[in-house]
Amino acid sequence: MTRLPLATAPLLLVAAAVLAATAAAYAPAPTASKGPGGFVVTGRVYCDPCRAGFETNVSKSIPGATVAVECRHYGDGAEKLKAEATTDEYGWYKVEIDQDHQEEICEVVLAKSGDPACSETEKFRDRSRVPLTSNNGLKQNGIRYANPIAFFRKEPLADCGYLLQQYDLKDAPETP
Ligand SMILES: *[C@@H]1O[C@H](CO)[C@@H](O)[C@H](O)[C@H]1NC(C)=O
Repeated sequence: MTRLPLATAPLLLVAAAVLAATAAAYAPAPTASKGPGGFVVTGRVYCDPCRAGFETNVSKSIPGATVAVECRHYGDGAEKLKAEATTDEYGWYKVEIDQDHQEEICEVVLAKSGDPACSETEKFRDRSRVPLTSNNGLKQNGIRYANPIAFFRKEPLADCGYLLQQYDLKDAPETP
């Protein structure tokens, strides 16, 4: 029977641990939401009938809207990921992402409205940034909430002028 010198035993243990860790790192993520680097991107799409740029008491969720999660490399802007999802009856979408996207800018972008009467988009307001890496100090996998994104009505509703004025008054700083 061969006997290993006592000192090599801890080394073997370390080697075994490294092998196991390496195998784990290369194994495919079992499910997108739980594996390492797995995220669920979720958020809501709504109609902004007044083109206010924020939610008002006349904004409504849009079911059946399509959004795309797009990731582009910081450096050359090359597209690294594009995944689509459709909103449910409450206007919420959910996209499962099974990889870490460090060094990429990821955004949820409006693709198609589920409401023909509210289907306009405006440049830069049709998207929401979402960080899809666990290496950014947030140290959290799992669910990432994107800001709500709006489609606009082509013509604002008749009441919008009055309504927005009310919001302005409400938000105005208190007079001393
Ligand atoms: C929304 O708010 C405005 C201003 O306060 C009000 O006049 C209007 O009736 C409200 N509309 C709804 C649908 O609640």
